[in-house]
Amino acid sequence: MTNNGRAASKTSAVSNNGASANGARKSAARAAANDRPRPHYARFAHIVGWGMAVPERVLSNHEIARLVDTNDEWIVARTGIKERRIAEGKETTTTLSIESAQNALEMADISPEEVDLIIVATATPEYSFPSTASLVQDAIGAERAAAFDLSAACTGFIAALGTAAESVRCGSANIALVIGAETLTKVTDWEDRGTCILFGDGAGAVVVQGSDVPGGIMSYLLRSDGSGGNLLTLPSVGATRPGGVAGLLDHTIDMNGREVFRFATRAMASITREAVAMAGLSMENIDLIIPHQANRRIIEAAARGLEMPDEKFYMNVDRYGNTSAASIPIALCEAVEEGRVRPNDRLVFVGFGGGLTWGAIAVHWDVTPPEVSRWHRLGRQVRYGLSRARSVGRRVLRRVEGAVFGMQAPEVEPPHRGKK
Ligand code: ACO
Repeated sequence: MTNNGRAASKTSAVSNNGASANGARKSAARAAANDRPRPHYARFAHIVGWGMAVPERVLSNHEIARLVDTNDEWIVARTGIKERRIAEGKETTTTLSIESAQNALEMADISPEEVDLIIVATATPEYSFPSTASLVQDAIGAERAAAFDLSAACTGFIAALGTAAESVRCGSANIALVIGAETLTKVTDWEDRGTCILFGDGAGAVVVQGSDVPGGIMSYLLRSDGSGGNLLTLPSVGATRPGGVAGLLDHTIDMNGREVFRFATRAMASITREAVAMAGLSMENIDLIIPHQANRRIIEAAARGLEMPDEKFYMNVDRYGNTSAASIPIALCEAVEEGRVRPNDRLVFVGFGGGLTWGAIAVHWDVTPPEVSRWHRLGRQVRYGLSRARSVGRRVLRRVEGAVFGMQAPEVEPPHRGKK
C-alpha cells in the first residue's frame, strides 16, 4: 500500500458518507490501513447501466393448480404471486444472462471491449465450468474481461454487486458487469406444492463504473449462518446420497418455508438498518428499498420491522415470483422504468436466501443514462454478431491446430484411480 492521503479519505467517504464521529473513524481507518495492504488509489463505484431479460412463457397460478393441490386464491394470499416466467426451449441461464448484459451495456453506452470484469450470480448454471460468466464474456465479445460465477443463492446479486464495487474502488477493474440470472423452474419439484408455487426464471444486469465523483455504491454488507443451511437446499453434483455414494441426486429445491420466512423478516430489517447507518444515512433519508422478491408478506413484515410504509418497498413479485439472484436487478429495472427511482435518490438493495445468507447495499442513485442514437445501437448489434463469428472462428482454429500439429489432449488416467 502507498500512504496516499487522498485514497484514504475517499475510501472512508464511500463506506461512511457524512458520518459525524470523524476522530474515532480516522484512527480506526489508520489502524486498519497498517494491518493490511491497500491499493494505491481508491475510487467511487457508480451504477451506470441496467437491463433485464425474462422468458416469453408466462405460467399462471391457475396452471399450477392443475399440477398440485392448490389454488390461485391461496397462492396470492400467502405469497402475492400471480404468475411467473418459465424458460423453455433454448432459453437458459446463459441466454438470459447474455440478453440482460447486452441491454445493460446498451443503456450505459459502453462497449463490451471496455468491460474488465463479469460476475454472474446464479444457483442454476448449465455448467460448474465453464462458468456462465465465461460464456457471457465470449458471447458479447468482452475480450479483456475476467469472468466468474458466484453462488450465494438469493443473496447472490448483493454479493456480486458488492464484490464488483470493491474491485472498482480499489482500481483492479474500471468497468464491471454484474448479472443475476436463474432458471429455477428447472430444479423445481412440480409435485411439491410448498415450493413449486414460488419460483420463476429471469435475469437482470447492471454496469458498474469507477469514477472520482463521490456517490454511487455507498455501503455493502454480507452475512452468513451456515447452521441454517438445511432449511433451504439444492443438491449439486458432489452431493452424497444417504448410502454414502457421491453423484447426481434429484436436483430439486427443498425448503422449510416457515423457518425461512421467520429468518427472512428478521434478517432483512436488521441488515437494511446496518447498511443505511454504514452509509452515514438514517432510514428517513431512504427513498426506495428494492428487496429480494420472495414473498409479499415477507416484504410487508420487513417494512413493519423498519417502521416504514409499504410504498417505500418496490414489489413486482406478483408478476415474476421468486427469481432468486435475478430478482433485485429485475426489480431495479422495472422501478427505474416506472419512474420510482429518480436522480439523487437514496436506495437500498436487500437480499436473503439459502446458506443462510443475507446482505444489503446502499446506493446514491446519481446517474442519467446517455442518449443513444439508433445508428449507435445498430452498430453495437453488428459488433455482437462479429463477436459470435469470432468465437466460432477460434473454436474451428483450435480444432484445425489440433489436427495439424497433433495437439489433442493426451489420455490422462483420472486421479481417483490412483497410482500404486
Ligand atoms: N396451496 C395450498 N395449501 C398449501 C400450499 C399450497 N401451495 N402450500 C402449503 N399449504 C398448506 C400446508 O400444507 C399447511 O396446511 P396444514 O395447516 O393443513 O398443515 C398450510 O397450507 C399452511 O402451511 P405453511 O407452510 O404454514 O404456510 P405459510 O403461510 O408459511 O406459507 C410459504 C408457505 C408461502 C412457502 C411461506 O412459508 C414462505 O413464503 N416462506 C419463505 C419461502 C422463501 O422465501 N423461500 C425462498 C428463499 S430465497 C432462496 O434462496 C431460494
